[in-house]
Amino acid sequence: MGSVPVMLAIYASEIHPDDPLRGLEVGEMPDPSPPDGWTTVTIRAAALNHHDLWSLRGVGLAEDKLPMILGCDAAGIDEDGNEVVVHAVITSDSWRGDETLDPRRSLLSERYPGTLAERVAVPRRNLIAKPQELSFEHAACLPTAWLTAYRMLFTRGGVTPGMTVLVQGAGGGVATALTVLGSAAGARVWVTSRAERKREEALRLGADAAFESGARLPERVDAVMETVGQASWAHSIRSLKPGGTLVVSGATSGDAPPAELTRVFFLQLSVVGSTMGTRDELERLLRFCLERNIRPAVHETMPLVEAREGFRMLLEGDVVGKVVFTT
Ligand SMILES: NC(=O)c1ccc[n+]([C@@H]2O[C@H](COP(=O)([O-])OP(=O)(O)OC[C@H]3O[C@@H](n4cnc5c(N)ncnc54)[C@H](OP(=O)(O)O)[C@@H]3O)[C@@H](O)[C@H]2O)c1
Repeated sequence: MGSVPVMLAIYASEIHPDDPLRGLEVGEMPDPSPPDGWTTVTIRAAALNHHDLWSLRGVGLAEDKLPMILGCDAAGIDEDGNEVVVHAVITSDSWRGDETLDPRRSLLSERYPGTLAERVAVPRRNLIAKPQELSFEHAACLPTAWLTAYRMLFTRGGVTPGMTVLVQGAGGGVATALTVLGSAAGARVWVTSRAERKREEALRLGADAAFESGARLPERVDAVMETVGQASWAHSIRSLKPGGTLVVSGATSGDAPPAELTRVFFLQLSVVGSTMGTRDELERLLRFCLERNIRPAVHETMPLVEAREGFRMLLEGDVVGKVVFTT
């Protein structure tokens, strides 16, 4: 009997809620064996997300799924030699319609092996043609952070040209995407960040003004985009105009902020959840990036085998934009 083919992969071998990098392994894992209707993508670039740190902490990844290859984002080559981008939301076979609403959906790396590897198996319907004009590195940034930002702004937040939008935690992968996409769509984008360097970078990316986290704003805004959670929630609620909308897709700093209920009802605010995006939204995002000549902010590109360093950088919060791994 021949030996099982293997590939380089970055995987979680153990869960450590307070020391996520302890369970991170760089090593060999079996090659994917796609079931019917699935196909294998040879990965050229894969981007890192905060989701991968959550997985190592045991949020969204159960102990009985270990070892699990991490990663949601990938761009690569399909079995027919086409350049493709992978949509990371995996639905149940019978699900039709908005993929993000399937109660049994998962993201790559939660139930099925993820993209921080040389190859990944995905349902055929999860592949989207990669435009030639986008590099593999840029395309790999889009399926999670950028797709999440797109849906937050345009589907869930109803952001239209001329609105003022506040983006909390400007340095993050989702936050940099919110800044660039919101600005390209004609919104006035204000950001907050704890770090001066990140505020400067946000201005360079298209933000109209940048403030220290928690600072009083010159005027109230139409919409706030939240991924920071507990640390910025009260500021987000207080920054909204009457009738304004807060869109939340993450809670990096904790998920038990004061609810600010009185303000929510008295000012008739809308608090709207958002998660990832549909395949259609990912296609529209790709087209928007091409039409407006938008390219994701990449903090650093490094070989997949050096992924541990990328995880360390993201954990320490010293990143503006995306960390991308190439194979
Ligand atoms: N629902 C979804 O589908 C979805 C999709 C993507 C991401 N997410 C979630 O959204 C969050 C952001 O993801 P990401 O990949 O963009 O993460 P990231 O690149 O690591 O960015 C996190 C940002 O949060 C800010 N931050 C972190 N801790 C903070 C604190 N204690 N106080 C104030 N600001 C803090 C930082 O902003 P500054 O340093 O600039 O202040 C940092 O740039 C994560 O929790 C992730 O799981 C959810």
